[in-house]
Amino acid sequence: MTPRKGIILAGGTGSRLWPITLGVSKQLLPIYDKPMIYYPISALMLTGIRDIAIITTPHDQEQFKRTLGDGAQWGLNLTYITQPTPDGLAQAYLLAEDFLNGAASAMVLGDNIFFGQGLPQLLQEADTQTGGGTVFAYHVADPERYGVVAFDDADKVVEIIEKPAKPPSPYAVTGLYFLDGTAPQRARHIKPSARGELEIADLLQSYLTDGSLNVKRMGRGYAWLDTGTHESLLDASNFVRTLEKRQGLQTGSLEEIAFEKGWIDRAALAERARIYAKNAYGEYLQALLDADNWQP
Ligand code: DAU
Repeated sequence: MTPRKGIILAGGTGSRLWPITLGVSKQLLPIYDKPMIYYPISALMLTGIRDIAIITTPHDQEQFKRTLGDGAQWGLNLTYITQPTPDGLAQAYLLAEDFLNGAASAMVLGDNIFFGQGLPQLLQEADTQTGGGTVFAYHVADPERYGVVAFDDADKVVEIIEKPAKPPSPYAVTGLYFLDGTAPQRARHIKPSARGELEIADLLQSYLTDGSLNVKRMGRGYAWLDTGTHESLLDASNFVRTLEKRQGLQTGSLEEIAFEKGWIDRAALAERARIYAKNAYGEYLQALLDADNWQP
């Protein structure tokens, strides 16, 4: 079977962050020391996915290409797809249908950041599920801003409701969707909602109705960071800064993940360290090389 492929949905208008995002795509804004999109890419890499489509607006695509290239520097194969207008999250599966070519997928929203002990295991476990889908439910203080999980008395998931005025639970569905190869075909049957979008909640509902959606709770030990407002954008940067400063370890370093996975060799890592030699990121990559006494 074809290995699962990755999708990063990085289009949209970014209107909630205007005027910052008038001239630059939201997913390229800095989260402390890296572009926002590094973090969702790292989630896919930790899952073990190397074949990734990046969906962008037509006018922002050039900047994404300049930032990420073809992905070979991280042992990845990046494909760029344009979304002409932001017609909803589920549209990603229609736009990526040829790219997926029947394969299962893991889609991450380009503005979603995940962190936590055991995250790679959680992701790899979802990857091993062959049929149906897996999404993650996370306890939040403001569920009305998200897709929300409704449970019945037996704690069974009955519905996923997009931005409900009266949330049926405090559990939001994160922007990380592991779906099988039927996703594009299901997306084709979705009708635009009242706000004119192909809703991800409707796509997930189709799996729920079939009894093939696994809603896994992502516990409080994980951080799922929001970047939707000016305040939460700064909070996310501060979170990464605090963590990196305390630990002396990077979060979301694509070079580090690629090197640990054996997708790039010492020479490739050394080249990246050389490019960034003038800053702390380059020093970090150099330290990885110094600490690694294994020779290819
Ligand atoms: O972050 C998780 C939440 O993401 C989920 O809980 C919701 O169910 C889901 O609808 C989504 O809610 P948002 O309010 O965050 O959706 P938003 O329209 O802001 O889009 C999320 C990201 O996807 C954003 O970075 C822009 C991008 N996007 C959005 C649309 C509608 C696209 O690239 N294309 C699109 O057509």
